[in-house]
Order: sequence, then structure tokens, then C-alpha cells
Amino acid sequence: MNFSQSLHIAIIMDGNGRWAQARHQPRLMGHQAGGRALAEIIRNLQDFPIHTLTLYCFSQDNWKRPDAEVQGLWDLFDRFLKRHGPEMLKRNLRFNVIGRRDRIQAKIVRKIRHWETQCRANSGPLIRLAMDYSAKWHLEDAGRLLTPEMDYRSAIEKSQNGIYPVESVDLLIRTGNESRLSDFLLYECAYAELFFLPMAWPDFSSVELAQVIDRYHQRERRFGALPLGQVAQS
Ligand code: FPP
Repeated sequence: MNFSQSLHIAIIMDGNGRWAQARHQPRLMGHQAGGRALAEIIRNLQDFPIHTLTLYCFSQDNWKRPDAEVQGLWDLFDRFLKRHGPEMLKRNLRFNVIGRRDRIQAKIVRKIRHWETQCRANSGPLIRLAMDYSAKWHLEDAGRLLTPEMDYRSAIEKSQNGIYPVESVDLLIRTGNESRLSDFLLYECAYAELFFLPMAWPDFSSVELAQVIDRYHQRERRFGALPLGQVAQS
């Protein structure tokens, strides 16, 4: 594993529902399996050159799903915080949830704040969960929050409840055989390298994560400039 550069990786954990349906199971079983896949990644996070891992857990559009699935997802997030909060603290991980908080159940918001505070003094990688998140909504909200003294990036941070700086994404992974960003980190992904994988999220593990990072290192990032070593000709 190449540790010369530490990365911000963002993941759209898609394909849970189809994974379950293919096994004749209710969709919530797929989300539960997705939770186990995420837990495995967190367990092994320190083995990777990652400074920030941002995970798309619940979009503002996900409220349109049937009530039972929405409630099931929030119950899962609640249990996740209870079970994995102490683990993140022990593993020296930092923790932050980005997104709106005013529509999330108070008991979950309390757990979010608790683990954000507990993990604040840690120095390891940052786990950021995007919950009730919409990039477009936050970009518009940042415009409303902007004051003459404030830069736009800080306004986005404020809107997202980000207690850590907004950082550019280096590598975005989407599982579930779809090739779109679905309103995720539109500002931060300006120069992200995109990897769309056919596999469903519950089948993703640190083995696939290592493979994607290897593929990322084979890409040449130019940020709009010329390839390395090439001199501009007029
Ligand atoms: C998209 O798959 C996934 C979600 C809307 C929820 C993501 C949540 C998890 C992966 C659960 C684990 C996370 C935590 C924090 C416990 P989909 O349901 O749209 O899949 P489909 O396209 O196959 O229907």
C-alpha cells in the first residue's frame, strides 16, 4: 500500500436493497449487511493511507422512501452509534456527521454530539457520516449564511454542521452499478477521481478498498494543468 499520500475517500454505499432482494430478503436486511460492511472497513481503517472517510448514509431524498424503510435506517444508525462510538474512540478515530440535524430524532442527535465530542481529542483518521445530506441544499444554504467577512467554504462548513474543515475529495467510490453522484459532495468532488463498481455495498470490504486505492495511484491527476514533465508550447 502506497502511504506517501494520505487521501480523502468518499463512498456512496449503494446496492443494499438489490443485494437483499436477490436473496429474497427484505430491503432492511441489505442495509444491515451494509452496516456490517462499514464496520469491517472501520476496523481496518488504520491500515490505509486515509485521513478522511466520508460515507453517504442518508440523503435528503431518502425521506421519500416508505416509512418502514426510513425508520429502519434511522434505527440502524442509532444502533451503529451505540455500538461503534466506543470503538471509534478506542481506535483513535475522529468523528463527525454532516447534514441537516433539525429533522433527525433528538436521541440520535444527542448520540452524534456525544461521539463527536468524545472523539475530538483523537488524532487518527476522520470518519464523516453524511446524514440527511444534500450537496445542493448545503450549497444554497451556505449562500444564505454567507456574511461579507466569511469565505464560502466556511459557510458550507457551517451549513453542514462540519466541525472539521471542508476538504477536497481525492477518490470517490460508488458501489451498486450506478454511475452518478446523487447530490453527494458536489463542491468537494470538483477534482475527485471517480470509481464506479458493479458490486453491491454489502459485498465491499477492505480487500476491494485496497484494490481501488491501487488503481487510484495509477491515475495521473493534473488539476487542469499539463501532464507532469510536459513543457507548455505556445
Ligand atoms: C443505498 O442503497 C443505501 C442507503 C440509502 C443507505 C446506506 C446505509 C447503509 C449502507 C447502512 C450502513 C450505515 C450505517 C451508518 C450503519 P439502496 O437501498 O438505494 O440500494 P438499491 O439501489 O439496491 O435499492
